[in-house]
Amino acid sequence: MYPKNCWYVAAHANELTDKLFARTILNQAVIFWRTKDGGVAALEDRCPHRLVPLSTGTAVDGEVQCGYHGIRFGADGFCTHVPGQDTAPRSPRVRTFPVAERHNLIWIWMGAEDLADEDLIPDIHWLDAPGWASTTGHLHFKCDYRLINDNLLDLSHETFIHKHTIGNDSVADSPAITNIIDRRVVRVHREMPNIEPPPFFALSQGHDRRINRWQIAIYMAPGFNMTEVGFHPVDTDRVEGHLMMRPIHIITPETDHSAHYIWAVARNFRLDDDALDANLWTQIDHTFKEDRALLEAQDRRLQAEGMPKVPQLAAKIDAGPVAGRRLLEAMIRQEAEDPRYCAPPAPLADDDVVTMPFAMAAE
Ligand code: FES
Ligand SMILES: [Fe+2]
Repeated sequence: MYPKNCWYVAAHANELTDKLFARTILNQAVIFWRTKDGGVAALEDRCPHRLVPLSTGTAVDGEVQCGYHGIRFGADGFCTHVPGQDTAPRSPRVRTFPVAERHNLIWIWMGAEDLADEDLIPDIHWLDAPGWASTTGHLHFKCDYRLINDNLLDLSHETFIHKHTIGNDSVADSPAITNIIDRRVVRVHREMPNIEPPPFFALSQGHDRRINRWQIAIYMAPGFNMTEVGFHPVDTDRVEGHLMMRPIHIITPETDHSAHYIWAVARNFRLDDDALDANLWTQIDHTFKEDRALLEAQDRRLQAEGMPKVPQLAAKIDAGPVAGRRLLEAMIRQEAEDPRYCAPPAPLADDDVVTMPFAMAAE
């Protein structure tokens, strides 16, 4: 269902403190905490003494202390202290996971430890680049993570699921162009010239004058999605006047039927506007919960039917999601054939890819 030899996002960097933070990723329970030097520790959530979750305990002096008998382990997984005795056994050691902190995110490598190469971390620099500000959040979805990727590659659903926030008829009515880049990235582009602004856009621009809008959904397997949301009032120039938002949707599988939806919406305007930030958070959280309600219902239905393949009815809007599934399946297949295979970095952040003109995408 998912490749292992790649970086996954475990959390936003600001979610981690010197307290224990438990999160299941790829069916593996992990605990995280910040060590004394501010680094990040990631250990299997399992005490090797009597197999109690270490998350029952607490972080003490940069180490984890099990909640049952107080045995302590360091960030390297080695036992450091057993109450009532002078020596600590060198084995067994708790499993550790490679972690990295980049773009204000905590990354974890769940595959073969010696393959964890930080150069393979996708470039999502908008989250910490000058000229951009981000609104961030985390949601828990009780559905197969692949359904969320499908949803993000077919934004025609905005018209129906999100009619009170980001959608109106113009979205589903406008055709989309799908491209596959370097066999790693799917890009779906839709232009919506001279339309009424949906509520979210009226809020962002501070008035309800008509807009030229476009949206570009970019996906890289296993679960990295970026949507470019571009718009400007029809009486301004696209290049000079346009306001841009880049929602980053990072989908990390928790179990076979649940996922972490770690999101950040970067914008290139009104960078220090806290009121806008708070408003955006409320609207975005509401919007993604609209997706969640629908996708959880879909997952329940699919499970009841033994997880059949979808779509079962052919529609043009499926070009993006179907291409995305193919790239994901290829990545999983390559890893199954060669357990040392790691997918190469992709041009997710390449501005030429993001801003490729619609006419060029259509060629
Ligand atoms: S079970 Fe963890 S210290 Fe005994
Ligand atoms: Fe949606």
